[in-house]
Amino acid sequence: MKVVKVGILGLGTVGGGTVNVLQKNQQDIGRRTGCKIIVTRASARDVTRPRICSTDGIQLTTNPKEIINDPEIQIILELMGGEEPAKSLIIQSLKQGKHVVTANKALIANHGNELFEIAAENNVVLAYEAAIAGGIPIVKAMREGLSGNSIEWLSGIINGTGNFILTEMRDKGSAFADVLKEAQELGYAEADPEYDVEGIDAAHKLCILASLAFGIPLNFKKVYTEGISKITPLDVTYAEELGYRIKHLGVAKKTDVGVEMRVHLTLIPENRLIANVDGVMNAVLVKGNAVGPTLYYGPGAGADATGSAVVADIVDLCRQIDSPAEQRVPPLGFASNELKELPILLIEEVTTAFYLRLSVEDKPGVMAAITTILADNGISIEAVLQKELKQHGANTHVILLTDSVVEKSLLSALSEIESLSSINEPAIRIRVESLQ
Ligand code: HSE
Repeated sequence: MKVVKVGILGLGTVGGGTVNVLQKNQQDIGRRTGCKIIVTRASARDVTRPRICSTDGIQLTTNPKEIINDPEIQIILELMGGEEPAKSLIIQSLKQGKHVVTANKALIANHGNELFEIAAENNVVLAYEAAIAGGIPIVKAMREGLSGNSIEWLSGIINGTGNFILTEMRDKGSAFADVLKEAQELGYAEADPEYDVEGIDAAHKLCILASLAFGIPLNFKKVYTEGISKITPLDVTYAEELGYRIKHLGVAKKTDVGVEMRVHLTLIPENRLIANVDGVMNAVLVKGNAVGPTLYYGPGAGADATGSAVVADIVDLCRQIDSPAEQRVPPLGFASNELKELPILLIEEVTTAFYLRLSVEDKPGVMAAITTILADNGISIEAVLQKELKQHGANTHVILLTDSVVEKSLLSALSEIESLSSINEPAIRIRVESLQ
């Protein structure tokens, strides 16, 4: 059996999970590849720290360069995360003719265009299945399984920590900080959990998915990003009364006027499968023009789940290690000279439906004034919910679901509504997607 030697940069949650998966499934992986995959070296900041995997037979070092410079190692796994030194180490590995597998979504989203070019120049592969949606093989599905389609849109729950927090808050009424701490202990959260909570991690993944979907160069700076921290239990309850769930979604859509790339809280009808994706689970809904809507579901974070995706890339590499570059699947699923820039829409130019919660004085004519302003701005109303007053003279909540509207028209209508004397607080607005 051919031996393929692997070196790991970073032996934390994902690195440890990868070693465990390789060990546990050694036989099947050998039968699938015809290769014996051996992890010979691994680097870690502190080699004395306890690990989640056995390190028997693995030479540990604090110096990643020793691994890159080992001529026997053919595949480098970059599982340390962060920008530097990860980026320089990947570049050095590629330039030394080594294939690289990474789970580093920030690096691919921000520097993937440059890194894929360096990989191509050196006739090696930079693989990144583990960077998006943990264990779900979404890169493979987009690049290969859906390659007969023109992708119209995709929509995903692509941050396990965020989904875990939203689910625990909804189901158990748990406090935000407690659930976040639990997610960190379970190894789901990023080193800086702001990345999860503020939607940056989801934006990294969405940026890559959009490029896979539409054949556009990676353009992370153009992803509109909102986090989950503004959600209130009140809106969760009102949304449920209207037949909706609130999820933190990444949406990429190709329209006649440009591409949308956005990450934000979203109301989705409760009867959609994706509305019921809870806990750390992720799901990506992809609409192809031939196949229609397809849904990919699985664990989005965690050691073994992410390790499963890393190992899938190693298996792919073992199969292609001796094949010519032109027989390999291009990194973003489109021939690199066919990647095309398309206009990316600003959020104000995006069209969606909206959930609006208005805090109003309960007096005659208020509702008429609100609906008149909406009508004057060409915004039609799909549903209205008015909550009964708990005590005389108090404010009441009016909840409206609008039809699709360009965001700037909605904003201009809202500023008129908020200037009414009977409106006491800024409106709460959450975008709504029908996902059909
Ligand atoms: N922090 C990420 C998440 C890890 O919670 O989804 C997987 O990318």
